Amino acid sequence: MKNNWKIETQAVQGAYEAGNAEARVLPLYQSTTYRYDTCEELASVFDLEQDTPMYTRLANPTTDAFEKKIAMMEGGVGALATSSGMAATSIAVLNILKSGDHILAASTIYGGSFTLFTTTFKDLGIEVTMFDPDIEKDEIIKLAKPNTKLIFGETIGNPLVNILDFEKFAAVAKELDIPFMVDNTFATPVLCKPLELGANIVIHSTSKYIDGHASCLGGIIVDGGNFNWDNGKFPCLVEPDESYHGVSYVKNFGASAFIVKARANVMRNMGMTPSPFNSYLTNLGCETLHLRMERHCENAMKMAEYLKNHEMCSWVKYPGLEDDKYHNLAKKYLPKGVSGVLTFGVKGGRDAGRKFINALKMVALVTHVSDVRSCVLQPASTTHRQLSDEELISCGVSPDMIRFSVGIENVDDIIADFEQAFECAK
Ligand SMILES: Cc1ncc(COP(=O)(O)O)c(C=O)c1O
Repeated sequence: MKNNWKIETQAVQGAYEAGNAEARVLPLYQSTTYRYDTCEELASVFDLEQDTPMYTRLANPTTDAFEKKIAMMEGGVGALATSSGMAATSIAVLNILKSGDHILAASTIYGGSFTLFTTTFKDLGIEVTMFDPDIEKDEIIKLAKPNTKLIFGETIGNPLVNILDFEKFAAVAKELDIPFMVDNTFATPVLCKPLELGANIVIHSTSKYIDGHASCLGGIIVDGGNFNWDNGKFPCLVEPDESYHGVSYVKNFGASAFIVKARANVMRNMGMTPSPFNSYLTNLGCETLHLRMERHCENAMKMAEYLKNHEMCSWVKYPGLEDDKYHNLAKKYLPKGVSGVLTFGVKGGRDAGRKFINALKMVALVTHVSDVRSCVLQPASTTHRQLSDEELISCGVSPDMIRFSVGIENVDDIIADFEQAFECAK
């Protein structure tokens, strides 16, 4: 029944169910370990025959309920929560790829993921080809190699706020018979469900909207259960895992093979587990996700229109605006709204932008996006400060760009703060 609930109900009531006289709210199991009556019973847990927790690195009841809620909201067969969004991407990729494999990835993905792919994975022998996600399908196919095992994109790019063409990426994945992995952080399952649009694996940095309060770092991987791993390209999911009593994930766990392996193999061996307290808080935050996303989108649309008409603003990018390059894709894939993140430039360039940010009183300068409080960042002077102006432009980050994450305050107060800051930037 819960799988048929509307997303709002899933966010509030999903997964955890209180028994008679039990806590109404998902309890926090702040415990590393679990007691068993007999050696035989604990052995069956180790053999993956019994789905109960034995050690929090692998499973914890608080985290488990949160995982089930997100899996339900995304429409997947299972989920694995991680200590951060970067951990989610790392585990998801390392679960299926090894040295000698190749990834096709959109060049507009979050900078941290870009660096993970182009340095850490490269050092591990996993090769990546970054491509402009707006090129034609046939051009993407031409970039594929016999060892290509994955195509990766972001629903809404950070910080370019470009929208992923799901149909095109899913078609490439189908033609190459490889999985399609999507970072759905900015959209959340409230605004977009990638598994319904041809994706196979979804990841999130839950540090952003899912927690929503900038209090917990976290990530999650959701398995769509909709990819045939037994196609000759992923022996790690089909052949016996000698480190796990010779289990074949595909044979033993069918549609859940990917997510079972991610937990039993990669998470077991590498850690990157969330603390139960973070799962507790993130689940609590998630209970209001649908309401927050509505207000984030509404406020962002108003701020985009305000900025578009402001004499001190030289440009604004927000796919909700009718003349935005990605408006049609946004209408197609994100009809409920395109999140609270937008970018704009202040007339006078980088220096004027810096003055504007320094003058803000309520909207804060922080290295974060997507929480209830409005915040800004100038990539050229912070996250991208090592790049020259030419390099900034080549990766789509203009020197005057301000990334603006619109919160859920009263929009009039955000505008009042911007007005006085624009005055100071003149
Ligand atoms: C789209 C996206 N994916 C992944 C990450 C990484 O997440 P975390 O900071 O939780 O490791 C971020 C962080 O900003 C992000 O914006």
